[in-house]
Amino acid sequence: MASPGHNLLILLLFFMSFPCSKSRLSVDYYNKTCPQFASIIEQIVSDKQIASPTTAAGVLRLFFHDCMVEGCDGSLLITSTSFNKAERDADIDQSIPGDAYDLVTRAKTALELQCPGIVSCADILATAARNLVTMVGGPYYHVRLGRKDGLVSNASLVQGNIAQPTMPLSDIISLFYSKGFSVQEMVALVGAHTIGFSHCKEFSNRLFNFSKTSETDPAYNPKYAEGLRKLCANYTKDPTMSAYNDVMTPGKFDNMYYKNLQRGLGLLSTDQALSVDRRTKPFVDLYAANETAFFEAFAHGMEKVSIYKIKTGKKGEVRHRCDQFNAA
Ligand code: HEM
Ligand SMILES: *[C@@H]1O[C@H](CO)[C@@H](O)[C@H](O)[C@H]1NC(C)=O
Ligand SMILES: *[C@@H]1O[C@H](CO)[C@@H](O)[C@H](O)[C@H]1NC(C)=O
Ligand SMILES: *[C@@H]1O[C@H](CO)[C@@H](O)[C@H](O)[C@H]1NC(C)=O
Ligand SMILES: *[C@@H]1O[C@H](CO)[C@@H](O)[C@H](O)[C@H]1NC(C)=O
Ligand SMILES: *[C@@H]1O[C@H](CO)[C@@H](O)[C@H](O)[C@H]1NC(C)=O
Repeated sequence: MASPGHNLLILLLFFMSFPCSKSRLSVDYYNKTCPQFASIIEQIVSDKQIASPTTAAGVLRLFFHDCMVEGCDGSLLITSTSFNKAERDADIDQSIPGDAYDLVTRAKTALELQCPGIVSCADILATAARNLVTMVGGPYYHVRLGRKDGLVSNASLVQGNIAQPTMPLSDIISLFYSKGFSVQEMVALVGAHTIGFSHCKEFSNRLFNFSKTSETDPAYNPKYAEGLRKLCANYTKDPTMSAYNDVMTPGKFDNMYYKNLQRGLGLLSTDQALSVDRRTKPFVDLYAANETAFFEAFAHGMEKVSIYKIKTGKKGEVRHRCDQFNAA
């Protein structure tokens, strides 16, 4: 008969020989191998954000989309070749701004000079997204490190993994649920739309010829709809035309997004739906009333996004360049 102490020892040995992949990520992963990791990223991120204030939103969206397809593994940073149409050339990702990719390139270049071959592009992206959220007024959260960069980047894997504003809310809920995110976590994460832009084509169906009875979507505040119609009047001729996601405080990470939804100032159809649907409205009302509750939920949600399907050990590599596989 084995004693309880004996069983414990066996259990311990078992966990020591098969460490689960999550346990290999840690906040001090680069402390010995690249002690300047945090300060280099911090410097590059703040220089870039000051020079190009649209960077924060671009990087946050880039990071989220990277994570939702093949996990947080830098697959979205790879450029296409004549043999491979990469993830970033999928339709949905075309609108991610060049400044977002540029930030990763700058950080990678600086890090390769100090600690060549050590820091993964996936870790750079996760850390930059966190720093930028904090820099524009949002919460701080811990980013554990040690992700490897992925070995696959395929445009045809994007559709079905990224929510689109034309999708019914039930489909959005199912999509997040299939990736392990609750309705409440989804509502908190979409609060990222407190910063950044959307191109007119993403919501033009709500502005022009909306239905037989109404030219614009009646869910819009009428003055807001009128303003957007003017802004987007030329959008087919000029596809760069875009509107702030948060019309009240566009560059500040706050809970204004949810307050806007309560007043018909939600830009995308899916934004507005959150404040109407009985499954999501309670959380919109909570986050509109209590910014602390939103920040806690967003931080927690982002920590969860940041470890979604991450690769460690031999399941990936540390790329030399973020836009190319090492084998290329
Ligand atoms: C219901 C789910 C979601 C839908 C349907 C959605 C859809 C969109 C669309 C259509 C845009 C406009 C892109 C453009 O025209 O350039 C956008 C922008 C953005 N999204 Fe989402 N999104 C969702 C959830 C999220 C989540 C969970 C995050 C991050 C945690 C996020 C972060 C952003 C950011 C930061 C922008 C602004 C990008 C910029 O200014 O370049 N979104 N989203
Ligand atoms: C790792 O580095 C960070 C930042 O320099 C520091 O705050 C932390 O205490 C270090 N951790 C260890 C275990 O040395
Ligand atoms: C990309 O994914 C599609 C669909 O799964 C597959 O048919 C195709 O072979 C993949 N392309 C590459 C280069 O792996
Ligand atoms: C508006 O939509 C209807 C169908 O919903 C279509 O028959 C009509 O041609 C559209 N009008 C314009 C101006 O696009
Ligand atoms: C729309 O485009 C036309 C021709 O390109 C231009 O004359 C007009 O000023 C534009 N209007 C707006 C609101 O941008
Ligand atoms: C707001 O939310 C925080 C965090 O959940 C909570 O501690 C606090 O009591 C809430 N404040 C109010 C006024 O309900």
